[in-house]
Amino acid sequence: MVLILRVSELGIDKAAKIAAKKIKQGGIVAFPTETVYGLGANALDEFAVNKIFRAKGRPPDNPLIVHVSSIDQVDILWRDIPEVAYTLMERFWPGPLTIVLPKREIVPYNVTGGLDTVAVRMPKNEIALKLIEYSEVPIAAPSANRSGRPSPTRAEDVLEDLGNSVDVIVDGGKTEIGVESTVLSLVHDPPAILRPGGLPLEEIKKVIPNVIVHPAALGEFFGRPESPGMKYRHYAPSVPLVLVRKDFLDYILKKELSKGKKIGLLLLECLKISNEKNILLKCFDGNLRIMAKELFSALREFERLGVDIIIAVEPPLEGLGLAIYNRLKKAASEIIS
Ligand code: TXA
Ligand code: MG
Repeated sequence: MVLILRVSELGIDKAAKIAAKKIKQGGIVAFPTETVYGLGANALDEFAVNKIFRAKGRPPDNPLIVHVSSIDQVDILWRDIPEVAYTLMERFWPGPLTIVLPKREIVPYNVTGGLDTVAVRMPKNEIALKLIEYSEVPIAAPSANRSGRPSPTRAEDVLEDLGNSVDVIVDGGKTEIGVESTVLSLVHDPPAILRPGGLPLEEIKKVIPNVIVHPAALGEFFGRPESPGMKYRHYAPSVPLVLVRKDFLDYILKKELSKGKKIGLLLLECLKISNEKNILLKCFDGNLRIMAKELFSALREFERLGVDIIIAVEPPLEGLGLAIYNRLKKAASEIIS
């Protein structure tokens, strides 16, 4: 049976201590970060890490992110750390930035999906930081969804996807940012964003002016993937999702309504949609921060409400819009643009 620890009842310290004990025993624990819920295990324990892959049904070549609670901890994980990595860590940690650098021998190869690099970040969430601290080891944690599903932003989402295949779920309420961290490779020359996320490109450019967004991060690259995660379908709800440019919205709405379909409509701006009982509308008053926070839970809610199709309108590609666009593109069964 999964043990659910409610922070609202136990307090942060007690919940983190009980969960840390499970990590030390080689168990797997779902916990909140500022981005999405993670499914964690002792990053230096190959057997514990294997349990994560099994619980998620995750392909073994898709590497995990290792979470630390202090900058000092990176020395046991990485070698050949460039100066710019320290600048980034001091500026953006704790926060939604994951950095990829060459790994040390102590990091098991199942954590890195066989790669000689390891991705590391420090989450900006009290519960996560205390859990890592009390566990006394770095914690490897992918998002706590079943592989391929939308990422979990609430403990209920974790329970829905993984249920009793995890040991503990720490319920710390809804996560703040709602999309995962930005993954930045410093082994790539020039440095490259492999996955846009909670820390906008514009912020990283202030430190690394020549940083690029890897073409695969926007689905425009078909060579050997730099980040193995790039090649899998992700974030997908169980109903078809069509991603459209705004100019095509009227056309596609008319088409689907004429087929009698019940539509979940997801868009940034709250346009006037004619009163239509077959459209469930989720819009965010033009606020990208709110859209990011609500994105994955909106997809899961559309599923629960039994829509036949989700139609999502492309957000602008600035700030958090780039991460939202990337998630929608990967979740889409069809793209009209
Ligand atoms: O916000 C987040 O990053 C959340 C929370 C839990 O921290 N975690 C998360 O993990 O999103 P996951 O496993 O769902 O995504 C990890 C991403 C994948 O795209 C993976 O391919 C990439 O990071 N990645 C991990 N290690 C890598 C490496 N050594 N080289 C390149 N990409 C790597
Ligand atoms: Mg994930």
